[in-house]
Amino acid sequence: MKLIGLLLVAYLLGAIPNGVWVGKAFFQTDIRQSGSGNIGTTNTYRVLGPYAGTIVMVLDIAKGTVATLLPTFFPGLAVPVTTVLGTATPLLFGLMAVLGHTVSVFDHFKGGKAVATSAGMLLAYNPIMFVIAAGLWVSLIYWTSMVSLASMIAFSLITLISLGFQDWYLTGIALILTIFVFYRHRTNITRIRQGTESMVPFGHGYRK
Ligand code: G3P
Repeated sequence: MKLIGLLLVAYLLGAIPNGVWVGKAFFQTDIRQSGSGNIGTTNTYRVLGPYAGTIVMVLDIAKGTVATLLPTFFPGLAVPVTTVLGTATPLLFGLMAVLGHTVSVFDHFKGGKAVATSAGMLLAYNPIMFVIAAGLWVSLIYWTSMVSLASMIAFSLITLISLGFQDWYLTGIALILTIFVFYRHRTNITRIRQGTESMVPFGHGYRK
């Protein structure tokens, strides 16, 4: 029962729609009504500018990180969930935050595309992998000028690179997140195929 309560806290943490709340509180703007309509970093950057985009990115990463660390903060409440591979507890909490971010009780059970919150989960679980992922993501944004494409390629590469860590939880979670990120980017994939996906105004792939 205590475990379920703490998992619910992780879900609620993930469900905080930072993009919507920052936009409404500081810019009197609902970012769901502009740009791609997504509540994440990219659309916040697109609609409200780099400062707001950066703040939302940090907050969205932080909720994934804090949720994943919840069982460490409250060891008495989190009954360890273990398998032959070891403890799965932090990952279970991270996944609850990703679920909250994408199916948010504060956003009519809609939500974001799972990139930053998943990255936050990675930061708590394997910081080295997070640094690799962040480096890949930034390089891919520069190369493609499309955040959506960069995000999908970065998650795919992370899954492959994770094999080097010989941590089957890490590979399993990276694979699940990759599939989920692709699923959440369905409309982006359609736009990429049609050549109408929006671009960041810099980088190798940028065309006016
Ligand atoms: O993090 C989401 C990003 O990959 C795409 O966002 O607003 O261009 O659909 P957006």
